Amino acid sequence: MNLEVKIDELTLKNPVMPASGTFGFGLEFKDIFDLKNLGALVVKTITKNPRLGNRPPRVYEVSCGMINSIGLANPGWDYFREKILPQIKDLNDILILNIAGESVEEFEYLAREAQRFDEIKALELNVSCPNVSKGGIAFGTDLEALKQIVSSVRKIYSKTLIVKLTPNVTDITVYAKAAENAGADALTLINTFSGMVIDVKSKKPVLGNKHGGVSGPAIRPMAVKMVYDCFKAVSIPLIGVGGIDSKEAALEFFLAGATAIQVGSQNFVEPGFMPRLIRELGEYLREENIEGIAKLTGLAHRREENV
Ligand SMILES: Cc1cc2nc3c(=O)[nH]c(=O)nc-3n(C[C@H](O)[C@H](O)[C@H](O)COP(=O)(O)O)c2cc1C
Repeated sequence: MNLEVKIDELTLKNPVMPASGTFGFGLEFKDIFDLKNLGALVVKTITKNPRLGNRPPRVYEVSCGMINSIGLANPGWDYFREKILPQIKDLNDILILNIAGESVEEFEYLAREAQRFDEIKALELNVSCPNVSKGGIAFGTDLEALKQIVSSVRKIYSKTLIVKLTPNVTDITVYAKAAENAGADALTLINTFSGMVIDVKSKKPVLGNKHGGVSGPAIRPMAVKMVYDCFKAVSIPLIGVGGIDSKEAALEFFLAGATAIQVGSQNFVEPGFMPRLIRELGEYLREENIEGIAKLTGLAHRREENV
């Protein structure tokens, strides 16, 4: 069955890829299944300098999901380029580098570096990180900062540019349109929802960082709505993410308007989930006699018009 999808100039053999930060650099999973089966490989966020991340505890299970405050722990660009990239470049044909920075200059630096490497096929900008020059407000919740980052990176980076938006805003369609107008080729919707958990015994927040990001099935209905709303607001492809733990959950995102999807928290529950999902999506198309997965994108909107 035809699971192929197009994101800008990239043709993905299927629409399933890992969500950044939940799949390491792929190396941890390569003995569990052949990563060539994936539509693309998205790596953990890389920053210019190494980061130790936030103080532990950094993850905690909540009803229908989890909360994390990893704090973008990563070995930094130089280590990634020298030690990791050579090991992962052949794991999948489409390697997507997710980057973040504390300043526009850091995003620009990483975009310039990424442009030099043919094995990196696309950039995904993680804008849910603090802008140090503005007292730590996340770039992705500051419309002007978002526009500035996307347009600055766009000037430097000529390959596929994906912007991953934060849901922690009043109206995500405003941010989606701004990213599109600033030159994004596709959007990933969404990063984690801001939240916290308090331990009633110790009477203190459970996370070392006090607050963190909520993910997993708990956030799926909000994520689906954001994809649905953005599908009407922009004309670039959307990559849906948030609580995908079954074929049905993935289908909701396609019907809402996603061209491709990412799997995050479910990788911790079932490391072999993505190949199973790819297989089940193929079976679904066959059973429903649908000629290609791309036919499903946004179908919930068309159904609405017909009522
Ligand atoms: C432990 C953990 C680490 C994450 N790290 C990153 C990261 O480094 N960069 C990023 O863009 N998103 C990161 N995310 C967010 C996920 O990529 C994804 O957007 C979010 O978890 C929602 O998807 P899910 O409900 O399928 O987990 C992380 C999520 C989790 C749970």
